[in-house]
Amino acid sequence: MADAIGNKDAKDYYLDIPQTNTAFFAKGLNNTDWGMKNRLSRIFNPVSGNTVMLAFDHGYMMGSTAGLERMDVTIEPLCAYADVLMATRGAIRSCIPPTYNKALCLRATHDTSVLFEDMSVGNGWGVDMEDAIRMNASAIAIQCFVGGEGERDSLETLCRACDAGYKYGVPVLGVTAVGKQMARTTKYFLLATRILAELGASFVKTYYCEDFEKVVAACPVPIVIAGGKKLPEAEALTMAYQAIQCGARGVDMGRNIFQSDHPIAMCKAVAKVVHEGYTDKLAYEFYLDEANK
Ligand code: R5P
Repeated sequence: MADAIGNKDAKDYYLDIPQTNTAFFAKGLNNTDWGMKNRLSRIFNPVSGNTVMLAFDHGYMMGSTAGLERMDVTIEPLCAYADVLMATRGAIRSCIPPTYNKALCLRATHDTSVLFEDMSVGNGWGVDMEDAIRMNASAIAIQCFVGGEGERDSLETLCRACDAGYKYGVPVLGVTAVGKQMARTTKYFLLATRILAELGASFVKTYYCEDFEKVVAACPVPIVIAGGKKLPEAEALTMAYQAIQCGARGVDMGRNIFQSDHPIAMCKAVAKVVHEGYTDKLAYEFYLDEANK
């Protein structure tokens, strides 16, 4: 307890310095509460404004994908090189040590498994907000199927998750999922990203496409890109580079990192593009150097 006797009298009120009232660095998020901004500042690096999210949530619908058979062996060593882990509570609790002290974006929907013809039939909210907070999540991810059979259910899930997110200061990542029947066009991504942001998502994950700068411009909150199927490393770095050039604030990349022959080198190379302004060519040279060490 502070002593009541012998304290110095306060005297320096810095009358010539106006109180700092800086606008929040992340696009469209200035009017959110302190707690949400604090969590967003763990997701997005306040210096670069960008993020490298490592997605390994695939098992929640695909089972053990190549590279994720043993997450304790393959993912745990990668954690140090990403800014955010994007995964299910089951994966985190069972395979990631709680001493991990960066951000967590918790996959918070359950969707249909790969046994179904088309995943866009619908989903539900898979993680109670209390449990997300218990796990110290910096965000939760809600997948939505704009244009799919499950559009209504998934958007309802998003809205309720955003209500809980605003109540507790937890940002919601809106994920634009593309079902088999849906075309990956610029027009589609323009529509889907905008809808998720308007319904309350604090940031949106989508796929890179032609005229991506228009998708970014029309989405009032930050966009991160998913990696998609494994590409040769040089091509994946080019995609990341082009997305950042178009205004994306980072990547939420899975298979192009953990299925790489050199996952740590690849994660570090992606971070060079995302945070340090490396071109894709420079980042690929960096990747080769790191891989050959
Ligand atoms: C989609 O939401 C998935 O569950 C993954 O999080 C996402 O596709 C990112 O992983 P990848 O880069 O492997 O596509």
